[in-house]
Formats: sequence, structure tokens, C-alpha cells
Amino acid sequence: MSDRLNIVLAGHVDHGKSTIVGRLLADSNALPDGKLAQVRAYCERNSKPFEYAFLVDALKNEQSQGVTIDAARVFFRLGEREYILIDAPGHVEFIRNMVTGAARADAALLVVDAGEGVRENSRRHAALLGVLGIRQVVVVVNKMDLVSYRKDVFERIQKEFSEFLGHWNLKASRFIPVSGLLGENIVGRSENMSWYSGDTVQQCLSSISVHAPAAGKPFRMWVQDVYKFTNDGDTRRIVAGTIESGSLHVGDRVIFHPSGKKSAVQTIEAFNSPEHASAATGEATGFTLGEHMFISRGELATRTEEKKPSITSRLRVSLFWLGREPMVAGKEYTLKIGTAKIPCRLETVHTVQDGSSLELKKADFVGRHEIADCDLQLTKAIAFDLAEDIPSTGRFVIVDQYEIRGGGIIRVALEDRQTWVREKVLLRDYKWERSTLSAEDRAAKFHQKPALVIITGEKDSGKKPLARALETELNESGHAAYFLGIGNVLYGVDADINGIANNRGEHIRRLAEVAHILVDVGYILIVTAIDLSEEELEIITTSSEVDQIIVVWCGSADPQFPVDMILQSITDPRTSVDKLTMIMKERGILQ
Ligand code: GTP
Ligand code: MG
Repeated sequence: MSDRLNIVLAGHVDHGKSTIVGRLLADSNALPDGKLAQVRAYCERNSKPFEYAFLVDALKNEQSQGVTIDAARVFFRLGEREYILIDAPGHVEFIRNMVTGAARADAALLVVDAGEGVRENSRRHAALLGVLGIRQVVVVVNKMDLVSYRKDVFERIQKEFSEFLGHWNLKASRFIPVSGLLGENIVGRSENMSWYSGDTVQQCLSSISVHAPAAGKPFRMWVQDVYKFTNDGDTRRIVAGTIESGSLHVGDRVIFHPSGKKSAVQTIEAFNSPEHASAATGEATGFTLGEHMFISRGELATRTEEKKPSITSRLRVSLFWLGREPMVAGKEYTLKIGTAKIPCRLETVHTVQDGSSLELKKADFVGRHEIADCDLQLTKAIAFDLAEDIPSTGRFVIVDQYEIRGGGIIRVALEDRQTWVREKVLLRDYKWERSTLSAEDRAAKFHQKPALVIITGEKDSGKKPLARALETELNESGHAAYFLGIGNVLYGVDADINGIANNRGEHIRRLAEVAHILVDVGYILIVTAIDLSEEELEIITTSSEVDQIIVVWCGSADPQFPVDMILQSITDPRTSVDKLTMIMKERGILQ
């Protein structure tokens, strides 16, 4: 495991964040030779008073001995440990770094000006830490020189801020009185504050733990990308991502959620280095699988024998809103969690609280700088963990028009209308006896990929003639296709429930289970059913777990959900079959 600590810097404007970083680098000799003198000389030439904060600017984009600084991050090394200090000037940067940043913070350094005391943004940043579940917090009380190094001023801030942090279930591991300007208690100790005998900022940084809590948790990795090997004839794929928690070993059985696809890890690939036998929390890694399967970005890789993640499309969350416009019900936003992105809506707001004043109220929207306990409805199910179990797979951001407008953590996985189906599918997949051939292997013999064509719509709109024509056409051209009407299962598979009222959901689920088997055979399965609703369509897609589904709607009325093809009237099924086979070729189902 790499000993690298990511720390986010937070605090009100001008309270001294950059000065403290500059001092830390200068006094711990982490700066390149001559840099300090160079910046001092520059200030003198331009009749500007020297600021330690300038050091940070002066080093931007410079790749020099030990220190690298990019737009918002300072990379440096002290002793055995590497540090990344993330400057978060505003709330959005703060959330971005906490949830989606290239360097995700393990801990936070909150800077408070001793003279000004705890200000609005100090409180909002603390509330954000609370909402995001960052438990390692260090409060640096800066500019002690401006308050004559008075112990009572320090203690007053410590008391006031402790109470505020306590409200969010946070406890600062330390309060450190410093002067960034004069370099007191940053690296060297302060003679002016002999009343303080605790750690300096540098000592404190070295005692913060790295990734420790996540390492012992179940394996979690968001799929970032799937790469093909480029060598001729090598058909393997590398599934790449960064391990959020736990560890992975060659031979482990993995399952991807929410698709439920399973396989075993064949190799663990490391970039530009020899193969590894395992990979640990925090590592960017890639692995190959025993079977060829289609996995997409945004799925959560887990291990079969470890705790399952939650899967649902309804979430109870704590959320911090930053958008100028309030978050309102009915509007579509995007929820980003790990590498997954899903459209979502605000369903119910339970309570709303101001992040600075803590004023609590009832409302049906979430205003700027407010923290809400609310329910979100997603357009499809995602895999995640509750933030209290695994923080990094339980944190999300909300995006509106390409900008981060809020962020938070998932507290409860709420039931959605597919929960009952999903539970059955999970058990089925768990018990499933796998053949040595995959569905794809079997389908390849017929020059096709396994697929499900669902033809639905109004009564007597020509669904069955179309299904039959498609079945004939595909079989005549050397493919393997099979037509299954919902009536085909009613008197056999469904004999026990046939005629019982309000059972359409279960009929559909059983149809989908039969479809699941036939698609596993490698067939292109053509299913017809009258007037499927979106919910029923979801039951089919959840149960059958096919990568390739084509939905055709027949009838003059418009469908109430997205479909691949609309046929208002079918005069000649042949033309419609031609259109359908075109789509199937475009999708790579037919070769
Ligand atoms: P933003 O990035 O704008 O939010 O500010 P910041 O928090 O990075 O503050 P910065 O380090 O730029 O410091 C702001 C001002 O406070 C500068 O003029 C510093 O010289 C001054 N300052 C910082 N630390 C101290 C200190 O310990 N004592 C005194 N007297 N001044 C300080
Ligand atoms: Mg600054």
C-alpha cells in the first residue's frame, strides 16, 4: 500500500491556507534550491511585500525536486510519506475533491483566522466535512501573532468550533495555534506560545492514518474503462479502475453490479510494470477475466464471497446544495457516484438545515448552502454502499448542466419497484450452474450475438405477424432465432398462477426467466406482449440480463417510454423486418 496522504485544505477566504502551505514547504526544506531566494528577489524588484503564499504560485506547473504543484494540488514528500495538499478555495472545489477528485482526501485541514474567528465558510466547510463523512479533521488556528498569542483567544475558538463540529458528529483530532506568516508551530515550535505543548502542523500530518479504514473492507472498484489487448489474436480485455476498498487477488471470483455478471480474475495487470498477484486499496489497477463478457463503465466490481453492495434506484441521502438555483422536485439532475452517471430527480425532502446557522426547517426544495435529508429517484438502479459502511462508494455529487451543484452521502437504500425481482435474480445467479461455454461462444456459431427483441404495443397492431416474419427471415439467413409469445408460457410455466388476478408482474417475470435461458443458449429471442408498461419492461430487462435488447412499439398511440423503433401501422411485415435487421446489424448483433 502506498504511503500517500491526501489532505484537503479548507477555511474562510484569506484565513491563511496558502501561507501555511508555503511555510510548510519552506521550513521543511521541501522546496527546490534557490526557489525561496528567487521569489524574495522577485518581490523586491517589483516592490511587493514578500508572501509565503507566492511560493505556491511560483511553483505552479514546475516539475522540480520533490515538489510539484498543479492548479489546485501540491505534491511533496516529507520523510517516508508523500503528501498531496488540495487547495479548495470554494465549496464546489471542496466537494469535487472529496468525491470525484483525482486525489480523494483522507483528511482535512481547516484553517481559522484567530482574529476573525469562526466565519461562515469555516462553518460551511465543517458542515461539508460532516455531510461527506470525513472523520480526520485538524483545525489550524492561524494568525496567532495578530492576537498577541493569547491562549484565551485560542481556547475560545476551540470551544466554539468544537461545538459546531459536534453538531455534525465530527471531532477535530487536534487544534493547533500557529502563525503561518512567522512560521510558528508549522514546522518549528513557537517560543511565543509556550502554553501549547501539542504537535506542530508537520508532526500532526505525519500522524494521520492513510486509507486504514478502507483496507480491511470488502473489495470495491468502479469500472473506469475496459481496454482491448492490441496484440493480434489476443481477445482478452482489461477492466481498469482504482480500488476504493479491500483488495483483489488472482483467482478471486468477481461480480459486477448492477449487471450481476460474474467471472474470475485471471491476471492483474499493472501499467508499465510486471504482472502482480494482488492489488490493494488506493491502487489504480486493471485485471483480466476468465470469460469474455461485456462490462461497461460505471459498474461496481466486487468479490462474490464478500458483502454485496446495495442495488436500487431510490436513495435516502444527506445532501449539501451549492447551486444558485434551488434543487427542486420534478427537474432532472445527474447523479455521479464513482464512474457511474445516472439521471435523477428529487423525490421527497424530509428536512432542510442551513449549513452555517444550523437553522432547521421544513421545505419541499433545497436552497443554496442548505443541507437536506431527502430521497432521490434515479432512472435506473445503481450499485453502491451506505456511506457509513464504505465512505468512498457511498458518496456522490449532483451535476446540473455540466457543473457540480451539490454532493452528499447515501444513508439508506430504499426499496424500488424492482426490489422483489432483483432479489430473485440475485439468488438465481448465485445458484446458476455455469456451462463451460458462454452465451457468446454459442451464439458465434450462428454469426450473431445473443439478443432479445421485445415487440409490444396495442392489441391487433401486427405484433405477432412481425415476430413470425422476423423469426423466419433470421433463420433463413443462417441465424438462430426463436419466437416466444407471452401466451406460450401462460398454460405451462404459469399454470399455477394462471387466472389469478393482479399477477401480471409475475407472469412477466416468468416470461423473462424463460427468455434468460433462451438467450443464454445464444439465440436471438423474439418476445411479444400486449401493451407492456415501463415497469414491466424493467422486469424483463432486470431478469433477463441481456446486453442487447431491442424494443419495438407497434400502434398509433405513442409509447410512454423510450423504444428503439416505432411502427405506427404494419402494412407489409417485410419492410419492417428489413428495418429491424438493419438496426441489428448496426448494433453488431448480426454480422
Ligand atoms: P484565499 O486563497 O484567498 O482563500 O486565502 P488564503 O486562505 O490562502 O490566505 P493567504 O495565505 O493568501 O493569506 C491571506 C493574508 O493573510 C496574506 O496577506 C498573508 O500574509 C496573511 N497571513 C497569513 N497567515 C498569517 C499569519 O499567521 N499572521 C499574519 N499576521 N498574517 C497572516
Ligand atoms: Mg490561497
